[in-house]
Amino acid sequence: MELENQKEREDEYYKEAEGLLRFIEKSPSVFHVVANASGLLEEHGYQRLAESRSWQLEEGGKYYVTRNGSSLIAFQVPQKKVTAYRLFCSHNDSPTFKIKERPELDVEQSYTKLNVEQYGGALLAPWFDRPLSFAGRVLVQTEDGIEMRLVDADQDLLLIPSLAIHMNREANSGMNYNVQTDLCPVFGDGQAKGRFRSFVAELAETKEEKLLGMDLFLYNRQHGTFVGVGEEYIASPRLDDLQCMYGSLRGFLEAEPRTGIPVYCAFDNEETGSVSRQGAGSTFLQDVLTRINAALGGTQEDYLRAVASSFMISGDNAHALHPNHAEKADPVNRPRMNQGVVIKYNANQKYTTDGRSTAVLRTLMDRAQVPYQVYTNRSDIAGGSTLGNISNTQVSLTCVDIGMPQLAMHSPYEMAGAKDTAYLVRLARAYFSADIEVTDEAIRIQ
Ligand code: CO
Repeated sequence: MELENQKEREDEYYKEAEGLLRFIEKSPSVFHVVANASGLLEEHGYQRLAESRSWQLEEGGKYYVTRNGSSLIAFQVPQKKVTAYRLFCSHNDSPTFKIKERPELDVEQSYTKLNVEQYGGALLAPWFDRPLSFAGRVLVQTEDGIEMRLVDADQDLLLIPSLAIHMNREANSGMNYNVQTDLCPVFGDGQAKGRFRSFVAELAETKEEKLLGMDLFLYNRQHGTFVGVGEEYIASPRLDDLQCMYGSLRGFLEAEPRTGIPVYCAFDNEETGSVSRQGAGSTFLQDVLTRINAALGGTQEDYLRAVASSFMISGDNAHALHPNHAEKADPVNRPRMNQGVVIKYNANQKYTTDGRSTAVLRTLMDRAQVPYQVYTNRSDIAGGSTLGNISNTQVSLTCVDIGMPQLAMHSPYEMAGAKDTAYLVRLARAYFSADIEVTDEAIRIQ
């Protein structure tokens, strides 16, 4: 019996890790992430709502809404009454390079490079010397107006070659990269000049002159895989933050909520500070929550009471203890991969976690049998930020910051624990299924 349980656990770890890797592979840009998440939601009976139309919500209904095709909020209506929201938020975007308007750069009629601009805080070195491609969306003129189409070049297309060690003897003593001069990838030889727009038009199944706009980003072509002698790790592009985004979605889809309004959020533009029309700093979340309340017949006071009773988990990956740089971790709070969900703390409120929200989360984790660990920055290292505290400036509620432990954050190829996605799925399932009311007066979890 023990053995069977062990086997089931192993299968669960493998299934969720494998599912994550496949999802990431299908999702080379934020627009693809949202399209693929929308597909999964629809398979599970979720109906699409448009922000520009009126909403009729039914008891027992399941809905989702997107903004800009790059942020997504999904929710259920277990009861036709809003008492509290249970939110899980993460982000869709990852550091990359955006292809500029008029992107072709000629080098002595021998090379055609693509002119790119950095998006987010990328680790630059790992982008060199590997096949890259691009994906995103284009706006196409059609008979009926302007249509958005997803495109993915989906081939080994681009490369950013390093300068040989012979031409820079200092190359291994710390490089100072210049995105404009060092990181524009080769698109082809001199003959490739003038090919970019027609290439994109072909991907979008249209003519060059019908292409009216584009948002295209580079991505690493290397596939996700298992590594380690026991296949105990996964390596993949964009684990930050698609591991949280996908794991929380899996738990959301499997949950069986009876009360409150479970809300799943995946935001774009976290890597640039969340300040955009669709980011966690926008009105998107507030707009959706107030509309749910109004559509279910609630007053403004009902909404404010519900928010005051609500809870949010902000999920964004955390730094695991580094095998070569153990000195960078806090002396005692040192997360390990495969040892469960990380609760993140920061005295200066970059992370929202405090004693109250920890108490709620620990209760849920114990119930879901999910191991947890703790991350804090070393007190002499500044550390990163995420979306929980930014979202709280729009919709203020009790919040906790968590993440899955990983290495090589913001590299185009990152590493994480093979077991941890399954832990997150388990936590999200228990969370969305629970009945939680967190007010300043009392905390109730059932
Ligand atoms: Co992140």
